[in-house]
Amino acid sequence: MEDGGTDTTDGRVIRARAREVLDGAWDDARGYCYPNRDVYPHLWLWDSCFHAICWAALDDERAVTELEAVFAGQLPDGFVPHMRYAGPPPTDLGPLSGVSSITQPPVYAHAAKVLAEHGMAPGAPVVDGVAAGLGQLWRDRRIGLDLLYLVHPWEGGNDHSPRWDDWVRPGYGPADYHQRARSALNAGWVASLRYTPRGVANWSTSFVVAPAGFNAIAAHAAAELADLTGDGVWAERSAALADAMDHHLWDDHQGQWVDLPLVGGGGSCRIPTADGLLGVLVTRDEGKARRALAQLADGERFAAPFGVRYIAADHPSYHPGQYWRGPAWPQLQYLLWVACRRWGADDLAREVARRGVSGAETSGWAEYWNPETGQGLGARPQTWAALAAVFC
Ligand code: GLC
Repeated sequence: MEDGGTDTTDGRVIRARAREVLDGAWDDARGYCYPNRDVYPHLWLWDSCFHAICWAALDDERAVTELEAVFAGQLPDGFVPHMRYAGPPPTDLGPLSGVSSITQPPVYAHAAKVLAEHGMAPGAPVVDGVAAGLGQLWRDRRIGLDLLYLVHPWEGGNDHSPRWDDWVRPGYGPADYHQRARSALNAGWVASLRYTPRGVANWSTSFVVAPAGFNAIAAHAAAELADLTGDGVWAERSAALADAMDHHLWDDHQGQWVDLPLVGGGGSCRIPTADGLLGVLVTRDEGKARRALAQLADGERFAAPFGVRYIAADHPSYHPGQYWRGPAWPQLQYLLWVACRRWGADDLAREVARRGVSGAETSGWAEYWNPETGQGLGARPQTWAALAAVFC
């Protein structure tokens, strides 16, 4: 059991089931897991990083293979695509062939560090790929405020977050939400993308935002890369980005980090979400970290019987059964568990882990689940539910 993990469930059973889920999704020829063979039959950037973390927790060398697979689609300028297609693209995501032209949260640096901690240190090509990937973000996706920006709602990984509601139209709310119609908006998002000459998205005429979640994961990635390589430049970049988040994105009224709209958007960027707590991974301000952590422990905000709610329960946007609009997501729970441990909040980490494990089991190892009842939602089984193995 990891320190800060759970000892209330039979860890061996959980680990065996996690391995079964990953084994069932593994493609030996391609060297990665499909998040779900039927619903998600491609490689997704952050999913594969989480799979690598799961494999490492299971002492399986496929951790290294899967992390290498993330970089197999990397472009010479360092850009890491959010998808590598294993067949026809599911939808238009830009002009690049074989991969999407947008990115996703750079969890690869943390994954590389976790692998090294498990004695599976990734080789130079992966470490160089991590540095080049972050380098591309810092070079091509930074605004004057020192924050990183995104040009498509799916780049944040939180595809249908209510924080994007005002981009759909002002006043858009829970009663308007339909998952299929919302996904169909992709055509419009893609039509407004602008690209580098090589076909990498670098601007949009309708959607540009500096989100709390993505910036926190990127700042954390920079710190992890500095730890892995001893390169102090990345430690400085991490601290500068964390400070920029504290300065520009911290909402003192809500006690969490909000998103900053740059093109389009509006007040929905302030809706209290679980990824708005991820600044705890990197902030240097203990007061801010403690205020955010307190909400993670608060039953009226983010703490639910089966995990971490994506939206605070006391906000009108909270819908525990609706895709990115309330359910618990295992990959965010994992990152928040890492964040708790950074601040020595070990009891809270154990509680996040315990509920995370019971949510994974009760939901049938689902993509996401109702945090009040544990009812499985989305694809089942979904590979990142195997993160429960990390807690055992
Ligand atoms: C959905 C999620 C995204 C994930 C993908 C594959 O699009 O919103 O975060 O990477 O599915 O699991």
